[in-house]
Amino acid sequence: EKERFKFPANFLWGGATAACQMEGAYDVDGRGLSTSDIHRYNAKLDRVHYRKKLVENEHTLATLAAAVADQEGYYPKRYGNDFYHRYKEDIALLKEMGMNSFRFSIAWPRIFPRGDELKPNEKGLQFYDKVIQEVIAAGMEPIVTMFHYDIPLPLLTEYGGFKNPKLIEFMVRYATVLLDRYGSLVKYWIPFNQTNLIQYCSFKSLGILRDQTKNLTEDQYIAIHHQFLIDAQIKAYAKKINPAIKIGIMLADCTYYPMTCRPEDIVFTMKRNRMQYFYADVPLRGKYPGFMLRYFKENDIHVEITEADKILLKENTLDFLAFSYYYSRTLDSQKNTMNPASISENPYLKANAWGWTIDPLGMYNAISQYWDRYQKPIMIAENGFGYEDIFTDGTVHDDYRIDYLRQHIQAVAEALQDGVKVLAYLPWGPIDLVSSGTAEMSKRYGFIYVDQDDLGHGSKNRYRKDSFYWYQKVIASRGSDL
Ligand code: BG6
Repeated sequence: EKERFKFPANFLWGGATAACQMEGAYDVDGRGLSTSDIHRYNAKLDRVHYRKKLVENEHTLATLAAAVADQEGYYPKRYGNDFYHRYKEDIALLKEMGMNSFRFSIAWPRIFPRGDELKPNEKGLQFYDKVIQEVIAAGMEPIVTMFHYDIPLPLLTEYGGFKNPKLIEFMVRYATVLLDRYGSLVKYWIPFNQTNLIQYCSFKSLGILRDQTKNLTEDQYIAIHHQFLIDAQIKAYAKKINPAIKIGIMLADCTYYPMTCRPEDIVFTMKRNRMQYFYADVPLRGKYPGFMLRYFKENDIHVEITEADKILLKENTLDFLAFSYYYSRTLDSQKNTMNPASISENPYLKANAWGWTIDPLGMYNAISQYWDRYQKPIMIAENGFGYEDIFTDGTVHDDYRIDYLRQHIQAVAEALQDGVKVLAYLPWGPIDLVSSGTAEMSKRYGFIYVDQDDLGHGSKNRYRKDSFYWYQKVIASRGSDL
């Protein structure tokens, strides 16, 4: 029998989370409100079509004010899964699984409650002192996201979000505080979660309100340019204080398959793919690609890119590419437009209740394309299968999750055998947490079940699912026993 492939001994096996979906304690120790706190649970949600609403961006100054004043609605991200109080128990469970790395985010509004202060909130930092200490003591490499969908609200209402260059100053100040405090403990940093998802996230990742923009597309690209400059300034600062620090770009993989071999489909797909690579081209290669400058010109989009910006970007390219991968996307040149949210159904794939398809080959394809283009180390920063688990006899028999993860780990093994430098595999939500897109608790990804429902009822106690023992075995065998 052919010897089974073993992952490198220093491979990072972990899990990935975000503060706003997990911590809770939204009004504790001086934390300010953020974009995540105004996501209200909707019992009548259409699970397959909710993303259309995200693209339309329902948020305005008035909806923000209403959510802040609302006494009736339930806002799940304010409460998370109670990690703020249970982090010790949770980190111990991750350690028990054998994880040697853990991706989590720091909540910007804990450190700068309004976002524009000159001095950080010491109480907020003290919480992360404890978490980072606990993670390191458990033998895990911390991988820290600086900003994962939780912009302090005043940065939207008073400044208009990332389209305002003031945000460069505010976020760099925040990042500098983190690097000063944790730069000797944390090697891997991701400034922005999923930089490229602007079609769904103009609100939660760029901070643009629908009624605060006259030209949304232009403002999105201006905001993205500011985020590129922030990346570069963070990299410049990290180099100065500790050259061992690695700063990464993170994308949500949104590369596409052509529907057919019709040349129009091939070229259209290539063009749409390029518009996605753009988000990594600038921070990893240090300059704007020609196709993007042409696109700006032909579409009357004005982004001011100064000579000083060009030098900053060129001299401070980032160190690694992290990306999340959940499912693949397909394009039909006859039906789809250049809008990144416009996609077609792939008749060869099956999907979950939220319409997310299962396609492990798509992940192998994505890893390979990114590697061929950038030749920089890759982290699978998220991967997983959201499912409405059934809890029985103190556990969940989640063979569907094991199947999904097994095939995706095999895809990573394929890439490693090609010589691709994959550093880490970090499945999403190792402990059940609140969904980012829908704010449901019942869209679960975890190896560990959390006894809590969509309205926050339940003991919040943790239980090991079947997949817990399976992932433990996978890690112990360095991926050879799947
Ligand atoms: C990614 C986000 O887009 O997908 C996570 O970085 C999110 O925050 C994950 O939780 C899964 O999406 P959802 O909507 O199922 O939680």
